[in-house]
Parts: sequence; structure tokens; C-alpha cells
Amino acid sequence: MGSRRRSPRARDWTSAVSAHASIPRPAAARRSGPLRGRVRAPGDKSMSHRAMMIGLLAVGETHVTGLLEGEDVLATAKAARALGAHVERVGEGEWRIRGVGVGGLAEPDEILDFGNAGTGARLMMGVVGGHPITARFDGDASLRKRPMRRILDPLIEMGASVVEEAAGGRCPLTLAGARETIPIVYETPVASAQIKSAVLLAGLNAPGATTVIEREASRDHTERMLRHFGATIDVEPFGAHGRRVTLIGHPELEGSRVVVPADPSSAAFPLVAALLVPGSDVVVEGMMMNPLRIGLIDTLLEMGADIEFLDRGQAGGEDIATLRVRASRLTGVDVPAARAPSMIDEYPILAVAAAFAHGETRMRGLSELRVKESDRLAAVADGLAAAGVVARIEGDDLIVDGRGAARGGGIAATHLDHRIAMAFLVLGLAAEAGMGVDDSAMIATSFPAFMPLMSSLGAEVG
Ligand code: S3P
Repeated sequence: MGSRRRSPRARDWTSAVSAHASIPRPAAARRSGPLRGRVRAPGDKSMSHRAMMIGLLAVGETHVTGLLEGEDVLATAKAARALGAHVERVGEGEWRIRGVGVGGLAEPDEILDFGNAGTGARLMMGVVGGHPITARFDGDASLRKRPMRRILDPLIEMGASVVEEAAGGRCPLTLAGARETIPIVYETPVASAQIKSAVLLAGLNAPGATTVIEREASRDHTERMLRHFGATIDVEPFGAHGRRVTLIGHPELEGSRVVVPADPSSAAFPLVAALLVPGSDVVVEGMMMNPLRIGLIDTLLEMGADIEFLDRGQAGGEDIATLRVRASRLTGVDVPAARAPSMIDEYPILAVAAAFAHGETRMRGLSELRVKESDRLAAVADGLAAAGVVARIEGDDLIVDGRGAARGGGIAATHLDHRIAMAFLVLGLAAEAGMGVDDSAMIATSFPAFMPLMSSLGAEVG
């Protein structure tokens, strides 16, 4: 690292990583008057991680605008730099990355610390796994609990090896990438864009075709962005809901412009808050409408949400829309398991919406929620209980008994999980007695401006 020059700006962002790790910051939300105003969620987290990684693997300059400057993405930026990229912040959300090209990664002489970021760690394992270098991966207490075998297994088939790992295939772990990467055909055992992406990113440095088959289609940002940078990638339907993705290895990825639209998983919080707080009328701008990301919108519409689509357009190769959301009387619904991949990160906030709906909402097939930043199935059920909401887990289903209102007044345990913290703060805005969370510091991983943004709408939160 010593020989690489750092600009003063570069020092600023590198010191921000994992700032939340040691100091919990309790927060509370009070029952609020009508929320009003126009907001824009931060840049999409999935696309921001991928822009950094594919920028690292491209030759020449990648120019990103709208990048999410949350701790998770800053950790990926730092790792990209440790692997040889020149990474520079040139303005708010505006970054330049000069990549090293596929095959050109440097062996890092620092631990790649991904903080809270499962996506960063897992996708970068794919990048490293396809290159003849060794790297050590680590993260915070939440990341250290998350299973990595699902990523390591296909990478081992591709020629990588695990030098050292914590019990159960967890971080901290040391991965030695393949000397000669083997292209494989891999069927993912669960619908996971992270597994798919890790295999494809490793396959970039393999001769010939690497194929990933998924029975349920997961978010396709890796495929779209690789194609945008010049890779040949073919996507065909597979079965009723799946896809077969084939990448031709050793592409010449060329540095490109990436425009990152607003993250639907972050926009979900002001959006649901507007539905729940009586009298609210909020506009959420420029939200990404990738069909594999908007299961929550479909579900809320089924529940009777008043959501109007104002402007529809395109940004960064994705459909976007501006949404006007008004407080609504919601009704409980049955959410099919097949919808889970398109709203996997939105169940905590959907469960909160369900608490204020009339009647039962059953969310089916949520086993993957157990391996997110926390065991989200348990964390949501416990938080709802603390808020006086009647809910239960049956197998992999979560059932919420909506009574049109919630007492609130409790404190939700967040287990280092940003989406649990934001979901229960939103609950507090509409609950009779408000709601507390034991920690809010980790919200900075994905939505650093959550508190001021919500306050700007009139939310009493802090
Ligand atoms: C992500 C994929 C999802 C999601 C995560 C982001 C991605 O994880 O939960 O927040 O950017 O690829 P899985 O693919 O493991 O379900």
C-alpha cells in the first residue's frame, strides 16, 4: 500500500468504514403528524457495490454518479483499492475508479474488512476466487455470523481453496484464488443474487463459458452491469420462474459511466411511513423499478395502498419512477413464497405495514431471512411483540395479525441490522406510544441520511 498515493479526499472516505462497529446509538420515534414533502432515497446499494467491483475489473476509467456513500459501499471501495484500483471521490456520490482489468488484481497486503456488508464480502470473494491471489476477509460481529459456505463451495469447484476459516465456514477467512480458473455450470441451492454474482465474477477470469442456473430469478444487476462494461452474457428463462445465465470468460471490460438510481430497499421506509401515518402525502423520487426488486410495491398495492406513479423513465440501464404515496387503509394479504426474491430485504418493513393493516398477513417462504444481517425472522417477530403486535412464526412463514393500529412503546433489539432499526422506527411514527430501538448507528451502512430525511417530512425521530 505504501507506494500508492492517496488524495486527502481518499483518506476521508477510508476512515468512515465501520465507524458504527463499537458504539451503539439508541433512537426513538414518536407518533407523528402527517408526513409531507418530496424525498429521494440514496443510491442503490446492490448497484453501488457492483460499480466498484466491475470498475476494479475494467481497464480504464469508470465514472459513477449517484453512488451510495454508506459504510457498506465504502468498505467495498477500500477493498477495491487494496486489490489495485485507483479509487477517488470527486463529489457527492460521484466517484472515479481506474481498474486493473480482469486478471490484473494485486494481492492485498491488508485484511479486506467489509464491516456489516454481506454483499461486499461475498461478491468480492468471487472476484478474488477467480484470481491467483490470496486475501483475508473479515467484518463486524454480524458479518462473522453469516454463512459463507454457499459462496466458497462453487468457488472451490472453480479451483479456489480456503486456507483458513472460522467454524462453520465463516469470517474471518483466508481465500486463495484459483491458479487457473475452471469454468463451471452451477445451480444455486437457494435463490441468491450473491451466490450467482460471486460465480459470475469468478468466471470472468476463466476460459470459456461459466453458467449459473437459478430456479427463482434473483436481482440481475451483475448481469446488466457486466454487459454494460462489454462482457458477453446470455440470459435465458429456466423453468417457470428461473434463469440460466451464461458468461463468456476473459472479456475486455472497458471502464464505463454508471448512473445509480435511488434504492427501492431504502425508499421503502419513507414510502411505508407515508402509508401508515394518517393524513400523509409524500413523493419519493427516482426509485429504481427493476422488476426483480419491486415485490414490495406489488404487495402494498394488493393491500390497498394509494401509490401513484408520476414520472417513469430510465437511469443507468434501469427503469425508474417517481411515486406519490398517500396514507391508506391497508388490508392483510397472503404473500406467496415465489415473490420473496423480489422483496427479500423488504419483509421487516412489510411486517410493520401488516401490523397496521386490517386482517391477517401471511408472508410465506422466508427461510433466507434467517441469514441476513441478523436472523430477521426472529428479530421482526420479537420487535413486533415488543410493540404489542400479535405475530407468529410457523415454519418459514411469518403471520401478522393486523388490527389497524399498534400500541408500540417498546424497544426493538436490532442485532446490528439496519433494516430492523429503520422498520421499527417507522412503526413508532404511527404507534400510539411511539417505539424505540436499542441501536441506530448501523443505519449508516445503507442509509446515512435516514434521520434527517425522515425529519424533513415531519417525522419525530432521532
Ligand atoms: C443482494 C442480494 C440479496 C440481498 C442483499 C443484496 C445483492 O441477498 O438480501 O441485501 O446485492 O446481490 P441474497 O442474494 O443472498 O438473497
